[in-house]
Amino acid sequence: MRFDHAGVATADLDSLLEFYTELLDVTVAHEETIDGLRVAFLDLGNGYVELLEPVGEDNAIASYLDRNGPGIHHLAMGTVDLAGALDRAREMGVELIDEEPREGAWGHDVAFLHPKSTGGVLVEFVGRSRE
Ligand code: CO
Repeated sequence: MRFDHAGVATADLDSLLEFYTELLDVTVAHEETIDGLRVAFLDLGNGYVELLEPVGEDNAIASYLDRNGPGIHHLAMGTVDLAGALDRAREMGVELIDEEPREGAWGHDVAFLHPKSTGGVLVEFVGRSRE
């Protein structure tokens, strides 16, 4: 398991993308629109920042922005053994938002853990082909 990315909710992806690419002097590794979200990953070499902008009103990021405003939405940890990581969390009594991995951004399998089990942090597990 290693750090994969921090997910940041924003209502203006284009502006924040331009700001962070200049501030951090990094490039955009991937962009797509998936599940009602515009998503962009900034490549920091040892991990990513994922910017998330809702396209419509009916999704978790739109609700998050309404409640909390822009900011860090989740932390993602990458593992080659996503099923094993989920089993371990389940055995520990962690409440899973996704009981099974599902396809997330960038074509990776992902699963989210409920923040009430993880110290208030929305944790995303990401299946990676290598550590
Ligand atoms: Co993410």
